[in-house]
Order: sequence, then C-alpha cells, then structure tokens
Amino acid sequence: MIEKDIALELQDIEEKNLLRNREDRNKDYLNFSDNDYLGLRNNKSISTAMKKSIDKFGNGSGASHLISGHFQSHSNLELKIANILHFEDGLFYHSGFNANVSFFKNIIKGEFDIFLDKLCHASIYDGMFSIQSPFTRYPHLDYESLEEKLKNSTKENKIIVTDSVFSMDGDIADLSRLCSLSIKYKTILYIDDAHGFGVYGSKGLGLLESQMGVEIDKSNIIHLTTFGKSAGLSGAMICGSKKIIDYLKQKSREYIYTTASPPYLADGILKSIDLIMKGEKLRKKLNKNVNLFRTLIHKKHLLMNVDGPIQPILIKDNQIVINIQKELLEKNIHVAAIRSPTVPFSESRLRISISARHSKNDIMQLAEALNNSLSHVN
Ligand SMILES: Cc1ncc(COP(=O)(O)O)c(C=O)c1O
Repeated sequence: MIEKDIALELQDIEEKNLLRNREDRNKDYLNFSDNDYLGLRNNKSISTAMKKSIDKFGNGSGASHLISGHFQSHSNLELKIANILHFEDGLFYHSGFNANVSFFKNIIKGEFDIFLDKLCHASIYDGMFSIQSPFTRYPHLDYESLEEKLKNSTKENKIIVTDSVFSMDGDIADLSRLCSLSIKYKTILYIDDAHGFGVYGSKGLGLLESQMGVEIDKSNIIHLTTFGKSAGLSGAMICGSKKIIDYLKQKSREYIYTTASPPYLADGILKSIDLIMKGEKLRKKLNKNVNLFRTLIHKKHLLMNVDGPIQPILIKDNQIVINIQKELLEKNIHVAAIRSPTVPFSESRLRISISARHSKNDIMQLAEALNNSLSHVN
C-alpha cells in the first residue's frame, strides 16, 4: 500500500515538473550555484590547516562531544566565533539545519509568542514544527505588520525570528529596526546569518556588523552563523548568552547524540575565518562581479532589486526554468533552477550565486548565455 501511495506521489511530482535530480559533480562546470561567495571552498591554506590537523588529531572525532569526541579545536572555534561576534558563548553544530531545529526545540517552550518572517529558511520552519507551538508569520520584511502583531501580544515571552539574507530572494533584513522592536517589546531576536557571514561587514562578520557593528548589547540576541557558505566548509555555530549555550549543551539532542564533527573541520573553519576577516579584497571583487552581472543582463525587469551575491531571476514557469537550466548546462554553465516547495509554485526562478572567485570573463560568459536564453521570456 505504502509503495503504491509513494509511486503516485512521485508521479504527481514529475507531472508538475517538480522532480529534483542529483548529479555527481564530476564535470568542471562554470558554477553559479554554490554558496561559495568568497571562493574559499578550494583555498589551499585551508586544506593545509586541515591536513595538519588530521596528522595531529586523526581523521574522525571518534565519539560524541560529551563522551570523548570534543577536541581543543572545537573549543578554539567556539571561543573564536563568540569573541569576534561579541557574544558570551557559542556552540558548534554539524549544520545550520541542525542548529536551527535544536534551538527552537530546546529553548522555546511554555507560553511563547513567536513571530517569524514568512520567508525564513526551511530549517527554522522545521524547528517550529518540532515544538508544535503556534507561531505567527509576518509578511516578508513588513515591520509595520510585525509591530502591530507585537502590540497585540499578551505573552511575557516573545521571540522575533529572521534570516539576515533571504536565501532564495537575496534581499536583506533591517536588523537595526528589528533590534529596536525587540527592545521596545522585550522580545528575544533570533538572527540566522547563514548567507551574511563572510559577505557583509568590513571584517566579513555578517549583516549585524555591517548594519549596527558587532559591539551592540547582545543580551537579547541569538545568532546563527554557518560555515557551508562563505567559509567554504560546513557546520554552524549558535551564539548567545552563556546560560543559553550551557543549557543547549545539556539538552540539545542534536548536539549530544551524534558523533562530533572531525577536529580538522574546526581547524579548517578557524583558518577560513582568518581569511574572511582579512578578506576585504575578496568582498570588493564580489561586489564588482555582482555589479557587472546586473549591468550586463538585458532584461532588467527580470532581476530582483538586490545587490548581494544571490541574484534570482524570476521565471515563474517550471518548464521554462528547467529548459533554461539545460540550455546553460549545454554551455558548461551551472545555475540552480529553484522550484516549489523551496519557493511558491508560481515563483520558480534561476538562483544565480555570484562569487569572488569568478573572473570578469566568467561573468560575461554567464550574462551572454543568459541573455540568449531569456530572450523569449517576458
Ligand atoms: C538561511 C539559512 N539558514 C540555515 C541553512 C542551513 O545551513 P546548513 O547548510 O549549514 O545546514 C541554510 C542553508 O541552506 C540557509 O540558507
């Protein structure tokens, strides 16, 4: 019976042009799909740091953090990130997805009013679903609507939840406005800076650094940083007060009941953070590439009004978006075709991810191919 239901569902997905396919990455495409915004994924000094760490500490961690898998490298990373972001403490997770789910599952309990931007990442939604508490979504970036909802909230405990950079639209939150609202209405503010870290701020410390500086009072702020995007590796850190982090260490099943990440990963991230903090040139190059891309695209109305590395092109038709992806692949260019359920059914798009590693010629090649493919799109 279950096989039959699953077969029907798969057929339905296929008929709607929503089937997703993996492909082994064995071809050297000109890649505009990775979130490797600074080009650190292949950085040699990071590889060297990881190799050194393997020689010293071995390949894997051997156990979970609370048994015997916690190495000095993990502690160094937690200390480093908490210090540079000016938080009391931090906890290193396998992934941003895990960290988001874990935070909401463990910290948000009892009577709580939860307000989240409608376009928050899927992992935040999964965190919400796991606690089975009602939550209120405010329209994307509509802080007047959010304030109306905050005014009507009667619960003592409240939290506002936002991505800093929205992963499928590339637009950004107004963190200073959200900070003011969180202070005025005495709420926690949870910021998922997955796509902001590395890209924004003079030291690449993320959107908070660029909009407000990192030295603001953080007593009501929880911050997620991930290392699978600009840092070019994987993993994530939740930063907040010592109490929150101490509590997660005791209670977070996602942290406790899993083999710790290998120590070399933490050492690689530490190296990557050094490069990010000294990466002003990379960020300049990234911005230059983004500007060049936007200048070269002919049909400007298909671009979204965003100036960061995530440059979506709204196509709206699932079949057309797949066709364009194929056309680009034939020209050796890899661009992600994003469809439902990642975005609403009628908002399928190409998600172009620009990086500092792209040359001027790479961007020109992409723009030429795209201008061709987009010539029949209204
Ligand atoms: C906004 C946001 N938060 C969290 C995540 C999850 O991070 P990770 O890839 O480390 O699981 C992503 C990644 O896709 C993301 O875009």
